[in-house]
Amino acid sequence: MTQDELKVLVGQAALDYVVPGSVVGVGTGSTVNCFIDALATMKDRIAGAVSSSEKSTQRLLAHGIAVLDSNTVSSIPVYIDGADEIDHQGNMVKGGGAALTREKIVADTAERFVCIADASKLVDVLGAFPLPVEVIPMAAAQIMRRLQALGGQPSLREGVVTDNGCHIIDVRGLRIANPAEMEREINQWPGVVTVGIFARNRASVCLLGTPDGVKTLTF
Ligand code: 5RP
Repeated sequence: MTQDELKVLVGQAALDYVVPGSVVGVGTGSTVNCFIDALATMKDRIAGAVSSSEKSTQRLLAHGIAVLDSNTVSSIPVYIDGADEIDHQGNMVKGGGAALTREKIVADTAERFVCIADASKLVDVLGAFPLPVEVIPMAAAQIMRRLQALGGQPSLREGVVTDNGCHIIDVRGLRIANPAEMEREINQWPGVVTVGIFARNRASVCLLGTPDGVKTLTF
């Protein structure tokens, strides 16, 4: 099975976690695009979606799925999103698609995070994928110096402005042995909007697309 076919498989499998009659939290990325396409088949049985990016919003609307303002929704039973990496405890690195901040906001409103990913995303230790950090532009140089002091090799993602009007720094060479601690540390630096470590908002379930079918990991 190709990677694209595995994405379709887990996108469809995620429908089992959608609570009928409720609002669904929707992430961002190519795997989530497959989920959105699958969600369209049950759009009349949900109350709408809260979206984590302009791209996902456009795709949801194109399918005729109502997109609700996150400020009008106090609780969401399930948030469904992909990941760039996920470890065996459900901690993730996210933000390859530059949507990390809104993803974390919607994930934080949700009772459960269901991660959908192909098997290549499962790792023993996070950090091989460059860690995205969304920053206020005027703080970029100072934050890059701090990330270097932490042992990483930071670089500004050229030509990218996030949905929040901010920039992304990608950090190579980090071994994220303690995701919760590194998330807390980086998040407190002035000018950091969000670091792409999802430990506090880690996955409760991962639907992993493998050549043998969908494997369900629970954390
Ligand atoms: C976007 C993300 C995505 O979830 C992550 O990049 C995975 O994307 P894909 O499903 O395309 O591999 O964090 O900011």
